[in-house]
Amino acid sequence: MSDPLAPSAPLSVFRAGLFNGQVAVVTGGGSGIGRGIADLLAALGAHVVLASRKQERVDAAAADIRNAGGKASGVAVDVREPERVQAMMAEISREHGRIDLLVNNAAGNFYAPSESLSANAWKSVIEIDLYGTFFCSQAALPIMRAGGGGSIVNISMTLHYRGWPLMAHATAAKAGIDALTRTLALEWAADRVRVNAIAPGPIPTEGVRKAFTPPPAAGGVPDVFAVEKAMESYAKKAIPLQRWGAPADIAGMVAFLASPAGGWITGAIMVVDGGEWLAKPQPAR
Ligand code: NAP
Ligand code: COA
Repeated sequence: MSDPLAPSAPLSVFRAGLFNGQVAVVTGGGSGIGRGIADLLAALGAHVVLASRKQERVDAAAADIRNAGGKASGVAVDVREPERVQAMMAEISREHGRIDLLVNNAAGNFYAPSESLSANAWKSVIEIDLYGTFFCSQAALPIMRAGGGGSIVNISMTLHYRGWPLMAHATAAKAGIDALTRTLALEWAADRVRVNAIAPGPIPTEGVRKAFTPPPAAGGVPDVFAVEKAMESYAKKAIPLQRWGAPADIAGMVAFLASPAGGWITGAIMVVDGGEWLAKPQPAR
């Protein structure tokens, strides 16, 4: 039986040195999907700048990448703060002379009934996901234009295609990101800046694993493989390609879109989800 959690191997597909001499900024690059994207871009030769709120997190990830032979640095930024985002992009441009690729991956999310969302809870998620994507893109544009063009890849989701209870804030933000992707693609094509998005299906980062952790059994011996079994059963039932996604699945699509093979693609939203959203039943109310 194949391992339902086995990741794909995009490194074996793309040519070595594909992004040599290029500079990529990955927001939220210190964890989960962003880390997988950063690892692949660095392995293909890019200098990767990992940007998120926690300096220690991005520094540790950048050190790992350098130890593996790649080029990487970390910068602390809250993508909700436009002045700080502008300063970060200017600093990267001063240091490296260019920005070729921006991956807007940073996001915040939690399940909560819409009726109970405080104004600040709504604002936090909308600002991190939607405003953050806009602020970073806007700040990167003149640097990309000055370098002759570039590529922006926004990380979206699929839950807003049909709606998803308890996620009013995140689904609204990601729907906005899809709209922004198409509009900026049209506005910035003349500057040779391509703007695309990727909509990932479920990928077992820490947060997803926690959601599958069953409550402890009352008495008896705990099943140490309970989470894996629950996840395998979900993948078999709910994902047509019968495995969970991995950060490498999304990283491969980022590399494709940023490469010359994606050179005539802009305004596209690429669904990378094993077929999950097409097959998913509407959740019970
Ligand atoms: P994650 O590991 O929690 O990644 C979120 C990242 O965003 C963290 O590195 C976090 O770092 C950063 N971040 C949060 N708020 C920030 C802020 N205000 N400013 C700058 N950085 C901030 O989650 P993930 O699962 O990898 O998600 C990555 C992306 O994939 C998100 O856009 C998410 O919506 C999307 N996605 C994930 C799934 C999935 O199943 N995992 C499915 C569909 C879409 P700090 O805490 O250091 O700031
Ligand atoms: N249910 C309801 N409200 C919640 C919540 C939850 N599970 N978690 C946070 N909130 C509310 C807080 O109560 C607060 O509102 P209040 O001031 O009215 O009390 C508001 O959200 C902001 O939260 P705060 O903790 O002050 O900080 P933040 O703005 O930096 O938080 C979050 C951002 C809320 C998105 C936080 O979950 C986060 O940092 N997430 C990053 C990682 C992540 O979400 N990864 C998944 C990516 S898809």
